[in-house]
Amino acid sequence: MALKRNENKESQIDVSKMERTFNNMGYMFKDLTEYCEDFIRFSETSKGPVLEIGAAFGFVSLQVADKGVKIWANDLDSRHLDFLEKKATKAQREFITTVACRFPDESNFPAEFFSAIFSSNVFHFLRGEEITQGIKKMFSWIKPGGKVYITAGTPYAYHWQEFIPIFEEKIKKGLPWPGQIEDFSIFKHNKRLSELPHFFHFFSPQILESAFKKFGFIPEKSGYCSRKNWPKDLRFDGRETAGLVARKPLYSTSSLHKKA
Ligand SMILES: C[S@@+](CC[C@H](N)C(=O)[O-])C[C@H]1O[C@@H](n2cnc3c(N)ncnc32)[C@H](O)[C@@H]1O
Repeated sequence: MALKRNENKESQIDVSKMERTFNNMGYMFKDLTEYCEDFIRFSETSKGPVLEIGAAFGFVSLQVADKGVKIWANDLDSRHLDFLEKKATKAQREFITTVACRFPDESNFPAEFFSAIFSSNVFHFLRGEEITQGIKKMFSWIKPGGKVYITAGTPYAYHWQEFIPIFEEKIKKGLPWPGQIEDFSIFKHNKRLSELPHFFHFFSPQILESAFKKFGFIPEKSGYCSRKNWPKDLRFDGRETAGLVARKPLYSTSSLHKKA
């Protein structure tokens, strides 16, 4: 990957930690959050296979393959997955299946197929109704006792800071999906708007938790992650990323899914 794709000066500071995607959907980050490390550890102890949604160039999927665990690496952009396949060693390739499609509408897997599902920095590109559909699908794909590991963007980032009061006000009012925004004209500190789609959906750990709880998952851990290795024009106060680990119960109540 030609790292010079990152064009502005700030991103060059930490260029080894992030690679710009081909489709202007942000970056693949190489500074692993604790949620990502938890996923890799859990995958190793599971029977597999596991799924990564929005794997980009496969930084995490390749590490899981290194552990000898079967992983399905998904991304909506097949160029990212071609890159992943080219980068994989012969040994890693034995454990990787790539699947190019858009989550959740185009993605279909057998019921109770995966031991774990990981998705990092993808939920913030999805609208509320897609997230609802996606969680329902994940619940079906995952084995009883299996886990999901999710991280997503928050407004507590230097380049998104103008949205903080709007987000907090919407949360106070109890509005559904308080993090959705299409009007990017409010962002005066953001030098990277051309590297992103013109819709964004911010999360907090509580929003992730309640969305997954609603469809039968049992939250095990949630919180903010500090992104100390991010460049200055992205870093804020240690709450840059929201994370969640949630488990599918061994015996599930399918009525939750019929109602929703
Ligand atoms: C910001 S990058 C994150 C890459 C990596 N997961 C990480 O956290 O470093 C988002 C990636 O998700 C992919 N993506 C975005 N929306 C998606 C969707 N609805 N379904 C599948 N992949 C998606 C993009 O193509 C891109 O490669």
